Amino acid sequence: MNQSSPAPVVERVDARHRYEIRVGGERAGLTAYRDRGDQRVFFHTEVDDAYAGQGLAGQLVQYALTDVRALGKRIVPVCPYVAKFLKKHEEFADITDPVTPQILDWLDSQGD
Ligand SMILES: CC(C)(COP(=O)(O)OP(=O)(O)OC[C@H]1O[C@@H](n2cnc3c(N)ncnc32)[C@H](O)[C@@H]1OP(=O)(O)O)[C@@H](O)C(=O)NCCC(=O)NCCS
Repeated sequence: MNQSSPAPVVERVDARHRYEIRVGGERAGLTAYRDRGDQRVFFHTEVDDAYAGQGLAGQLVQYALTDVRALGKRIVPVCPYVAKFLKKHEEFADITDPVTPQILDWLDSQGD
């Protein structure tokens, strides 16, 4: 990686129900959620092609899941990337709930 690359910055954007990762002011990726009671249901993660394969999705999701814990909420990993991340990061197992048909129906009814 280029040594002069700026460090990625992650922030929660409540109004858009997502966390965004920025590199040098440019948005490089996001992970989107909906809240269902105390469950934060993650349903989509994307990183722009220009930034792919640099571990940005990992940094973004690590930040987001740590924030979920700090907020006293629980994680529901509908997004396959988040589900895969959780298999490798067992430290979040105690605050992770399974994806159920009811949650998927509820998510469908939420719209964009
Ligand atoms: C998936 C995506 C967010 C990964 O972004 P990234 O910053 O390049 O990812 P990282 O470098 O942090 O991590 C790469 C890992 O993601 C995994 N991955 C790539 N695509 C994936 C997918 N669709 N589902 C689950 N995991 C995926 C890779 O296997 C790799 O795993 P490894 O660390 O075990 O080798 C990005 O490729 C993307 O936006 N894809 C299109 C949208 C998408 O398919 N999103 C996931 C489902 S919502």
